[in-house]
Amino acid sequence: MKKILDAENLQSNLLEWKEQLFVYKFALEEINTKLNILNEEYQHIHHHNPIEHMKSRIKSPASIVKKLERKGLEVTIENALEHIQDIAGVRITCSFLSDIYTMFDAISRQDDIEVIRVKDYIRQPKLNGYKSLHLIVKVPVFLSNQVKKVKVEIQIRTIAMDFWASLEHKIYYKFDKEIPQELQLELKQAAEAAHDLDEKMKKIRDEVDLYKNNINE
Ligand code: GTP
Ligand code: MG
Repeated sequence: MKKILDAENLQSNLLEWKEQLFVYKFALEEINTKLNILNEEYQHIHHHNPIEHMKSRIKSPASIVKKLERKGLEVTIENALEHIQDIAGVRITCSFLSDIYTMFDAISRQDDIEVIRVKDYIRQPKLNGYKSLHLIVKVPVFLSNQVKKVKVEIQIRTIAMDFWASLEHKIYYKFDKEIPQELQLELKQAAEAAHDLDEKMKKIRDEVDLYKNNINE
């Protein structure tokens, strides 16, 4: 039997849909716990929190349906589970660029996490100027009678990158995905300014470290 998830059938499928989404919530809880542990441990050892803040969300069934349609896929639960990588998503905002790779390394080293895709839009920014490190990972969720490996999208970026991305996102939808050319140019310049700010902040932090080390000597 096909599990069609269009608007009409959405209601009748809601129960099964909820059951499937259930595990994504647990996967997010697993990831959040792991990230909090890493953050606190890092604070303890290095007196610095790599994570400034983080936010997680489960994609709504309506958005999942829209994304499947956009991808030209039949709207079924199976297709959603297989082809939508960001049903569960976590966004980690870091203070410094180096924190991004610290988190990435620490996540990748965990035996129970499988990193299945990495998109480094920091080393290779998108043409519009977008920067972030994107990971798709699989995390095991232990249920009473089985272990489910659940996909989670993790986006890691600095505060400056996040500031840029949230404004760009708003503009993108304000102009119905067709941003006028001159605004595109300005956005790109703003992305460069955000990058300069990240570099400047790093330089200041290095100077602070140097200053403190000299005092302690
Ligand atoms: P979707 O874009 O989600 O269909 O999948 P994809 O496989 O292309 O993933 P990608 O890793 O490129 O982007 C995933 C997510 O990153 C998006 O859903 C956005 O949240 C964010 N993102 C990607 N590109 C941009 C961008 O140009 N601007 C902003 N503001 N966010 C972006
Ligand atoms: Mg995309």
